[in-house]
Amino acid sequence: MKRIGMLTSGGDCQALNAAMRGVVKSLTNSDEDVEIYGFLEGYKGLIYGNFKMLTGSDFSGILTKGGTILGSSRTPFKTIQDPDENGIDKVDAMMQNYYKLRLDVLVILGGNGTHKTANLLREKGLNIITLPKTIDNDLWGTDMTFGFQSAVNIATDCIDCIHTTAASHGRIFIVEVMGHKVGYLTLNAGMAGGADIILIPEIPYDIDKVVSAIEKRHASGSKFTIIAVAEGAISKEDAKLSKKEYKKKLENYKYPSVSYEIAEKIQQKTGQEVRVTVPGHTQRGGSPCPYDRVFASRLGAEAGELILKGEYGFMVGYKNREIVKVPLEDVAGKLKMLEPDASIIKEAKLLGISFGD
Ligand code: F6P
Repeated sequence: MKRIGMLTSGGDCQALNAAMRGVVKSLTNSDEDVEIYGFLEGYKGLIYGNFKMLTGSDFSGILTKGGTILGSSRTPFKTIQDPDENGIDKVDAMMQNYYKLRLDVLVILGGNGTHKTANLLREKGLNIITLPKTIDNDLWGTDMTFGFQSAVNIATDCIDCIHTTAASHGRIFIVEVMGHKVGYLTLNAGMAGGADIILIPEIPYDIDKVVSAIEKRHASGSKFTIIAVAEGAISKEDAKLSKKEYKKKLENYKYPSVSYEIAEKIQQKTGQEVRVTVPGHTQRGGSPCPYDRVFASRLGAEAGELILKGEYGFMVGYKNREIVKVPLEDVAGKLKMLEPDASIIKEAKLLGISFGD
């Protein structure tokens, strides 16, 4: 008999359900008896003992369903070791609930912050297996995270739609894509949607270079420009600021987001109208795309196999076209950034895309 706890933590994304279904299917298809405890709303459920017992049939029909049947929440790692408002030691409470339910393993689906807490629980002696979810694809130790390809599809659809209007009206359009720290999503959606300029956090931009890319296009006869901007795009001047100085700047920030600042500057410098579109959380919503369904199912199935073998303390990831197990201590606290000299950036530049650098 295996007693398995499961939770989804952090921002939701597509294929969380597909991944959990994969874990459960691979276990229920084995000879092992299993009991599944689904903790509700991420780590909160584990802290406060809020769970429901699930069976294989609860995971039926959810392969194509977006969101998470367990609910999710953000429980910042920064404060996980601080007592809650009622003085409860959150880490201790999670361990107590794990031992009270006599769990053999806790399966945790999440992104960067989630992995830091997962590793902390591992250090405290709990058996942990994690699965890499995030539309940002910024988890260290895996070439791909589930949710990413679905979000690329949605952001690309958005750029496609804007493309037609931009062409009809001869306008400059900015599409702001999710990703505060890394630019994988913006880069991929931008390239797939035929964006002319792509601004990502890893390559600070010079607004004059952005403007000259627009002017070059217009001089060559193109009447419109599409700019894909990551939420975390940063100018060269701002990139020089210390963390503290940049935080201070953002405290008095008059724009809803970075795209509006860029739009205003381009408008001032070119005299042309610039419109901003923000697809926002639509990028995390809806059904997972076929790639994510397959990918998350594979990761889930492999996680189930690790559980059956009693191998714990790993994230199930994907490296060089193979599903791999990555020690949690290697994953926690590291961000996978796009290298400015990555070949995809070089190729994008060869295609004539400007990064404003
Ligand atoms: O981490 C995934 C993500 O969607 C980021 O791309 C985005 O910046 C952030 O979450 C938004 O978080 P929230 O849903 O908490 O506003």
